[in-house]
Amino acid sequence: MKRIGVLTSGGDAPGMNAAINGIVDEARKHNIEVRGYLEGYAGLIANDYIELTPEVVKPHHHVGGTFIGTSRSEEFKKAEVQAGVAKQLKQDNVDGLVVIGGDGSYHGAYSLSKLGIQTIGIPGTIDNDIPLTELTLGFKTAVRNVVETVDIIMQSASSHKHLYCIEVMGRRAGDIARWTGRALDADGIIAEPGDFDVKRVKETIEKSQDMNKRYQLFIIAEGVMSAQEFKEVVERETGYPIHPLLLGHIQRGGNPVAEDRILGLDFGEHAVALLREGKTERCTAVIDNKVTDVSFEETFALIEK
Ligand code: F6P
Repeated sequence: MKRIGVLTSGGDAPGMNAAINGIVDEARKHNIEVRGYLEGYAGLIANDYIELTPEVVKPHHHVGGTFIGTSRSEEFKKAEVQAGVAKQLKQDNVDGLVVIGGDGSYHGAYSLSKLGIQTIGIPGTIDNDIPLTELTLGFKTAVRNVVETVDIIMQSASSHKHLYCIEVMGRRAGDIARWTGRALDADGIIAEPGDFDVKRVKETIEKSQDMNKRYQLFIIAEGVMSAQEFKEVVERETGYPIHPLLLGHIQRGGNPVAEDRILGLDFGEHAVALLREGKTERCTAVIDNKVTDVSFEETFALIEK
């Protein structure tokens, strides 16, 4: 194996740069060149890449986002585009490809593997929504971001005895809401559809006020309902005034916490080891706290359920 490629795809996640660093470190040990395709699958389609060396990569190790860019490519879903990319990669003697992203990004990698390109995925998404891995890259940093931001907001809420509902990211998954709600000792956590019941919300507010708590906090997963919807229903049914807040992209930025840097390095090194062993259609994962790998198909089967 002489040359491999890497790209980041879908929403950026803190720790993606550390994973690229891990890939380059491991590849260099075995004299393998690494190409970084720019702006996700768009860079593969345009054959737009940079050579990734330690001098290029190391300054980004501790920084959030992805320095090689990312995108959500509709174009790459076309069979003829995938065939063109596979042909180009073969012509360029790119012997393997690592795709860092979420389940949508895995599907792109899987299609390329069916065209004879050795592919490995690394779960990079703040949502923690990839089956068969206990953690995805960026999740712990997103949790840190939410907790630290809401701590600040609650200082103001407490001064005014305000009642807040805060909508957090996660797409269809409720992990960010669950973890941050618990860490913040929120009065209510709405992480899955059955969790919202306006009568229960009213009781929770009253119990919290009876304890003389100076603010009330509800954390809501975006996949269940918006903060605005919560406000409308709760104000209409209970009369309590609600401050709705959409936390937004502050959750996705920021330098990765130590765990995401370490996980990035470990995932990156493991991905290259898998390529060197001739493995394909697999993605790195954490199971029982250890870095390992599972097949794309196993994860797809669980996502589709
Ligand atoms: O998948 C990561 C994520 O941040 C989700 O939590 C969120 O629903 C989505 O991406 C937001 O996407 P965009 O940045 O394109 O609005």
